[in-house]
This record gives sequence, C-alpha cells and structure tokens, in this order.
Amino acid sequence: MQTPDTAKTPVTVVGLGLMGQALAATFLRSGHPTTVWNRTSAKAAPLVAQGAVPADSLAAAIAASPLVVVCVTDYDAMHELLEPLAGTLDGRVLANLTSGTSQQARDTAAWAARHGAAYLDGAIPASPDGIGTEAADIVYSGPASAFEEHGAALRALGAGKATYLGADHGLASLYEAATLSLMWSILNGFLHGAALLGTANVEATAFAPVAQKGLETVGGWLAGYAKQIDDNAFPVADASLAVHVASMEHLVHESEFLGVNAELPKLAKSLGDRALAEGLGDGGYAALIQLLRKPAEIHP
Ligand SMILES: NC(=O)c1ccc[n+]([C@@H]2O[C@H](COP(=O)([O-])OP(=O)(O)OC[C@H]3O[C@@H](n4cnc5c(N)ncnc54)[C@H](OP(=O)(O)O)[C@@H]3O)[C@@H](O)[C@H]2O)c1
Repeated sequence: MQTPDTAKTPVTVVGLGLMGQALAATFLRSGHPTTVWNRTSAKAAPLVAQGAVPADSLAAAIAASPLVVVCVTDYDAMHELLEPLAGTLDGRVLANLTSGTSQQARDTAAWAARHGAAYLDGAIPASPDGIGTEAADIVYSGPASAFEEHGAALRALGAGKATYLGADHGLASLYEAATLSLMWSILNGFLHGAALLGTANVEATAFAPVAQKGLETVGGWLAGYAKQIDDNAFPVADASLAVHVASMEHLVHESEFLGVNAELPKLAKSLGDRALAEGLGDGGYAALIQLLRKPAEIHP
C-alpha cells in the first residue's frame, strides 16, 4: 500500500482497462494521491488495495483532482462518459490518453474549451507493462501551460520522461499515426523478406540480424531525406528514383517467380511508376513524397 505524498498533484484516472490500470498504479507508486473510476467498478479493487481512492461516481472522480486522465476504448466512449458532466470540468486539465484521430483531438479540445477545461491530448508509445519506464515517453499536444502545470505528474508515467509536441491538439495523434505507418511498413517488409528467404529454407532468425543492419543503414538516410522534404528539393543522394523503380521491378519478378505474395513490391512499383510518369525519375527517392501528400488516384 502506497502512502500518497500530499505535496504532489492529486490525479484522477477514468477508465481502468489494461492501460488505465497501469497508469493509475504508476501514479500511485510515484506518490500522487490517486482517485479512480471505472464503468465496471470491480476493476478498481486492485488499485484500491495499492492506496487509490475509489470514487462513488464519475462526478466525484472529476471533482477530486485538478488533473483528470482519461483512458477508455475510444473517443465515443469518452464523450458518452464526460458530456453529461461537462460542466464539472471547468478549471481542470483533462489529459486524454484514449487513441483517436487528430480531428477527434481537435474537436474534443474545442468541446473542452467551451466547458472551461484545458485539454491535453496524449498518445502512448508503450504497452501497459512499459508504463512507469522510459519506454512510456508519452507525447502530448495542447496548451503548453497545462503541460507545464502538470508536467511532474505526467512525467511520472514515463520514469521522468514526457514529450510536449506543441499547441495544435492534433499533433499527438498525428505523431502516433506517422509512427504506426513507419512500423507497419518496416514489419511488412521484414515479413516479405522472410517469406522470400524461406523459399530457400533460410530461417527468419538468420535474416533478423541482416534486416537489423539494413534498418540501421536506412535509418541513417532519414535526416538527409527529411531536409529534402522540408526544402522541397530532391537531388539524387544515393540512386535516382528511376534506378530504384527498376529494382522494384526485379523484386516483383522475384516474388512472383518464387510463388511469394507480390503485393508489397507491386505497391512500391505502382507508386514508383506514377512518379516516373510525373517526371520525377531523375530526382532522389524522397521525391515520392509528392505523390504521398495527396490522395491516391484510382485507376479503374
Ligand atoms: N493496451 C495497450 O497496449 C495500449 C497502448 C497504447 C494505447 N492504448 C489505448 O488506450 C486505450 C485503452 O486501452 P486498454 O488496453 O486499456 O483497453 P481495455 O483494456 O479494453 O479497456 C477499455 C476501457 O474503456 C472502458 N470503456 C469502454 N467503453 C466504455 C463506455 N462506453 N463507457 C465507459 N467506459 C468504457 C472500459 O470500461 P469497462 O472496464 O467497464 O469495460 C475499460 O475501462 C485505447 O484507446 C487504446 O488504443 C492501449
């Protein structure tokens, strides 16, 4: 049982699913007086055993703390819970760690402002067992004053780390989306590579260190590509886009010849072909951003 440090900011955690439990337990361990509420009240029991105060109602939970952290399944659930009690948020900081889109974050910020609450939108880059460690360097967007006011409590969730991205409430979910796009592209590429090598009975464990090294090489290119994107100028750094597209063609053929799914290299090649058709072939690979900035054209 943790004895709360009354000098520390009281925190309320609404939503005690897997993530909410981890958030509340971490606030408790770091000494914050912690009030908890969950639709299914039985889930509060392990936290109460650790020193949390169970609120009788959601209204009482909100009233208990200047910082209200919400982590439920989605924004619909969050609005369903909070809208009937919106008036009670006046003067509080609402930190929403529920996953959603940038537009949902911006709309929720406007709604919170109408009810006198400062709104921070957060995205969690960790699983529940990472909360309370540096892996949980949660990113926040919204008013800097709210982040600074409650920085100590918010940093407790990341073992002293939390990152403020800026005033635009949509930034946290946009950074999360950008990171997920990168993650799935990397993982799909790894799985496709493992499938190709598997046709020669090469085990994925043999491929993993080679893939890791390849990622480090490509990771080293990112800063240079980023500068090109920001400058909107794409001189050839390693190979021209036309050379890349020719290699994509080889990858499509190799995949098809080996009887491996060729959708991924075909997707890369179709983007590359469109870039060549738009006259970008003599530039560097980052010129593809010009296609990715706009919706895909649908070819019947
Ligand atoms: N778990 C992860 O690894 C992870 C990582 C990063 C971000 N997140 C995000 O964190 C959020 C919560 O995830 P989780 O893993 O904690 O999910 P979870 O274990 O399924 O818990 C969902 C929570 O939402 C509550 N809830 C759902 N619908 C509700 C409604 N209509 N009214 C009131 N409460 C409602 C549930 O209450 P009951 O207990 O009453 O059902 C429960 O407290 C999600 O947005 C998720 O994307 C999770």
